[in-house]
Amino acid sequence: MAVQGKLFVVANWKMHLTQQAATELVSALSLHEDSSSEVTVGIAPSFLTIHAAKASRKADGILIGGQDCYPVDEGAYTGSISAPMLRDAGCSFVICGHSERRTHQQEASHLVRDKAEAAIKSGLHVILCVGENAEFREHGSYLSFVETQLRESLPKNASSEKLTVAYEPIWAIGTGKNAGRTDIEEMHDHLKAVLHELLGEKIPRIIYGGSVKPNNALEIMSLPVVDGVLVGGASLDAAAFNAILDAAYQITSNQTRDDGRSKAAK
Ligand code: PGA
Repeated sequence: MAVQGKLFVVANWKMHLTQQAATELVSALSLHEDSSSEVTVGIAPSFLTIHAAKASRKADGILIGGQDCYPVDEGAYTGSISAPMLRDAGCSFVICGHSERRTHQQEASHLVRDKAEAAIKSGLHVILCVGENAEFREHGSYLSFVETQLRESLPKNASSEKLTVAYEPIWAIGTGKNAGRTDIEEMHDHLKAVLHELLGEKIPRIIYGGSVKPNNALEIMSLPVVDGVLVGGASLDAAAFNAILDAAYQITSNQTRDDGRSKAAK
């Protein structure tokens, strides 16, 4: 199954959940199978819970993905997991360049690009994360900072089918502060223009991440520039993630969006 439809809603479990907890959480998710062509649902478990998450899906409707991969297919790289290994484990996508890896593992954009290229070569869809910290936001240079990050991290083999960009302002991740409507619109419009220049007419999806919760998911996903969400904290709770999924289904069942544009027009 591929990433398709108007909205891509992705759970990033980060370094949480045992196999038992992963099984319980996935079993408690309620997908609207009849809306599966409009909402693609993804879960990125830790490597060790990929199997449990995959095995406890009620239907094939949930895509499973990795939270990272190594840029080389195999070799003497102790502790690393490659893109072909993720494919072999049943993954359809991988997150590359999450800000927590850029910060804690000092991942530079050229490494993120190499990882993303290896992932696409192996047949994985890539969620490429970009986003500025509070300092760049306050300084006012956030658009150029994120643009440079995107240009330097974008894999050469990227296309709208193979890649999703996740805009995740670091100051909004896990803080309960989410970016406002105008912040999101400004950045997504800017990134769309950069992607248009680099990749042509068919622009990859741009999803938003950073304290997406049941109480703001509808508003955020209703923005025509937002093609889905990457959810951390709220994805660890079945009721909260189900509420976010319900918001996505509600939006896609209303064919007319607040500016009259259809998200299907890619
Ligand atoms: P959050 O995390 O929803 O907990 O802010 C988002 C992310 O890091 O992907």
